[in-house]
Amino acid sequence: MSLSPAFLDELRARTSLSTLIGRSVKVQKAGREYKACCPFHNEKTPSFTINDEKGFYHCFGCGAHGDAIRWMTDQRGLPFMEAVKELAQAAGMDVPAPDPRAAKRAEQAKGLHDVMAAAQSFFEDQLGGIDGAEARDYLGRRGISDATRRAFGFGYSPDSRGRLKTALKDLGEPMLIEAGLLIDPDGERDSYDRFRGRLMLPIRDIRGRVIAFGGRILGAGEPKYLNSPDTPLFDKGRTLYNIDRASPASRQTGRVIVVEGYMDVIALAQAGFGEAVAPLGTALTEHQIERLWKMADVPLLCFDGDAAGQKAAIRAATRALPLLRPGMSLAFATLPAGQDPDDLIRAEGPGAMEAVLGAAEPLVERLWKFEQSAAPLDTPEQRAALKQRLSAITEAIAHPDVRAHYVHAFRERYDALFFARPAYTPRHQRMTGARSGWQRDRRGNWKPPLPPAGNEARAIGASGMEQRLLRAILASLLRHPEQIALHREMLSGLRIGDPLLAELLAAMIAASFGKETVETGALLTILGQGEVYNMAKGMLRADTFTFTPHRMKADAGRVQRDLDEAIRVMAQGPELEAALAEATRRASDDLNEETFAEQQRVRQLKLDHDRRLAELAQSEDIV
Ligand code: UTP
Ligand code: MN
Repeated sequence: MSLSPAFLDELRARTSLSTLIGRSVKVQKAGREYKACCPFHNEKTPSFTINDEKGFYHCFGCGAHGDAIRWMTDQRGLPFMEAVKELAQAAGMDVPAPDPRAAKRAEQAKGLHDVMAAAQSFFEDQLGGIDGAEARDYLGRRGISDATRRAFGFGYSPDSRGRLKTALKDLGEPMLIEAGLLIDPDGERDSYDRFRGRLMLPIRDIRGRVIAFGGRILGAGEPKYLNSPDTPLFDKGRTLYNIDRASPASRQTGRVIVVEGYMDVIALAQAGFGEAVAPLGTALTEHQIERLWKMADVPLLCFDGDAAGQKAAIRAATRALPLLRPGMSLAFATLPAGQDPDDLIRAEGPGAMEAVLGAAEPLVERLWKFEQSAAPLDTPEQRAALKQRLSAITEAIAHPDVRAHYVHAFRERYDALFFARPAYTPRHQRMTGARSGWQRDRRGNWKPPLPPAGNEARAIGASGMEQRLLRAILASLLRHPEQIALHREMLSGLRIGDPLLAELLAAMIAASFGKETVETGALLTILGQGEVYNMAKGMLRADTFTFTPHRMKADAGRVQRDLDEAIRVMAQGPELEAALAEATRRASDDLNEETFAEQQRVRQLKLDHDRRLAELAQSEDIV
């Protein structure tokens, strides 16, 4: 369908941009314009302006810019045509439908949408009424607040074969059947209500229209969830639960979380993680993966730590391989075995969830670990088989550059595992064993040096949490350059993944060797005018978070102590991970009480560490 420029101009002219935006964020009149805190980046003072006359919004903080249609696509996450349709509807305009078949489908869908909307209010009324008492109790027991109940549109289907059928009879039985609300048995028997005695959860499309329902049984029984069948409005494999609310939320946080169940999404939202979605009881489809990539470059998939959850994780990973593109990937967060996000949040609070998310592994790592532990690797044949499994993975990747990097990454890990050699040392040093770390044992044989602690450790900055803390630390050091020398030893030991951040730190460390304490201004001069300089400038902006409260006048001792802990915790992450991998390998090679206990001990250390990292990265001190 093509739309004329005149139509789009008319649409923009008839739309009040400040009203439209005002529905999602708080706007304030400022002269002839409106101001708001920018929904595209995190800020505390408004730099987002809306000009109704020109029909544009503009953010002076992050550069977000666009008109009403752009708002709908970028902030709400609607596809272009959906954005136009929704705006046209609000403006009382008809979208031209040149194709008569499309027009007919649109007409039919409109009818079904009305039916679903009517069913939604019926279920909501029932939940509020006398019949809804048990369901209301159930929600109360599960700790679901009234606000959450309203936001997610909970309802109740009475335990009867005909209540909905009677209540909505004006809409016509065929429509109710087509919408999946009535079951139509073959033969002469009457149709009857599909959902009976269930807590009802509306499933909405990206525009927030109800397209299906999931109904949860209140007590025990099968099936636990009964879902709408596929209808002209509802295609399970192309829908994600909560997409309408998660899409705008993901623009704020820059991430999207994928969990397994409806109630997980809801518990997460109630705990402050608005950007969560769930597939509808099936494995992620390619379509859903593509949809997730519209929300964030690296969707975070959250699975149960038990065997079934891990299998699901690998299934999703495998499905994504042919679709991978530069910049687009998946990350995997593993929950404690047997706990879903709802359980975890209720047992340990949002911080524990954040820690789980913060410890998410990149796709490449997840695949490597899976294949490495899929079968024993004791014999040459078994080791060669691992190589074969790895190449089956890389062959499934369609994009040539992405594939090449996977081949390389796997080869590096594979070689390190089986063909580990000491690092290259120049020829003249190789002759003198002592200097290159090689030593003779008592029998006079040369022995390679022991790998330094953390040799296999990955670089810092792999998780969002670490990135955030690392940036906060660097920003603090820029503001308090006298601290660099005080922490130099620990700072020099950090292996940072991001080359720009690494370069910035290296420059700061180098500068700190000068006779006099270097000042912020002088540091910037040293950085020259390139990307690193720009990044450092950005870090000095007032709304950048830093590790120490720069709004207050913090005393130097406090700054030093806080930084000390932050750097230490950050440095420990990769080391603990490597230690855990090693302990896990030992335990799986030879499982006995001792290796198991040691593995559990290191695992606990790692969990404690993740929690502290999450606390620091979210601490109030970060302003
Ligand atoms: P879970 O059983 O993990 O759901 O199934 P949950 O959300 O944790 O449920 P609670 O906490 O017991 O209420 C995960 C998802 O699988 C689908 C649903 O989408 C559910 O949210 N499912 C599960 C079904 O469609 N039918 C079922 O019978 C069970
Ligand atoms: Mn659950």
